[in-house]
Amino acid sequence: MTVPDPRELLDLALEAARKGGALAARGQHGISVLDVKSSPTDVVTEMDRATEEMIRDVLLSARPDDAILGEEGGAAQGRSQVRWVVDPIDGTVNYLYGRAEWAVSVAAEVDGEVVAGVVEVPVLGRTYTAVRGEGAYRNGEPISVADPVDLSMALVATGFGYAAERRRKQAQVLGALLPKIRDIRRGGSAAIDLCTVAEGSVNAYYEQGVHPWDWGAGALIAEEAGARVAGLRGTPPNNAMLVAAPPGLFEPLHDLLVSLEADRDA
Ligand code: IPD
Ligand code: CA
Ligand code: CA
Ligand code: CA
Repeated sequence: MTVPDPRELLDLALEAARKGGALAARGQHGISVLDVKSSPTDVVTEMDRATEEMIRDVLLSARPDDAILGEEGGAAQGRSQVRWVVDPIDGTVNYLYGRAEWAVSVAAEVDGEVVAGVVEVPVLGRTYTAVRGEGAYRNGEPISVADPVDLSMALVATGFGYAAERRRKQAQVLGALLPKIRDIRRGGSAAIDLCTVAEGSVNAYYEQGVHPWDWGAGALIAEEAGARVAGLRGTPPNNAMLVAAPPGLFEPLHDLLVSLEADRDA
């Protein structure tokens, strides 16, 4: 079997994310909650599902042998080396409230490694892309992380899970962190948070409890823009805790999060 070309995977990811993003944007006005998942605030709308279906159709009609992992359950088993990791609407709560900060996230893995990713932010007209080893781009223009700053001067993005237990711990960590940094931003989309690290509009991002579909594309974009992206204590970014920051800032933020046991839920 020939190894798939990451640039071709990026083109397909782009097509899927753009079509999905356009569909979701058309359906945003007047949207309501369809169902709840892990808690009453963990909502899903009809458009989360419809968008995932549309993305899946675009991907599988071009590459029927690939696997898919989608947040809304759209799994497909594959026979190729490629798996697509899809969050159809990252930032569903923002979407529900008519806000602009939500994204379609599509990542392509080859043999388990993300090699191409797109974070499409339809309402803001922003498309973030990366191919491994080839840099990160916003609307076709190269982007890079902000210069490293002292932790005390860092603007740090984060997010919170939906479960009450996790939130209690996240609030504790936040309480200890806040006096030690410039400020916090809670944008409401992990994928966009990672892209803001990539473009330098925040210095760093961390979050406990994220899933591969939240960070698959955004982590590659942040890495390709110069960030270090990992879990705590040397773990790869797949055990739910994610820290992203330029080298020089990553280490003190990481060490502080370790001392706060930020990767524990209770
Ligand atoms: C959520 C968003 C949010 C993050 C949560 C995610 P969803 O994804 O990325 O910013 O804090 O951890 O679950 O549910 O809107 O796709
Ligand atoms: Ca998500
Ligand atoms: Ca989602
Ligand atoms: Ca969700």
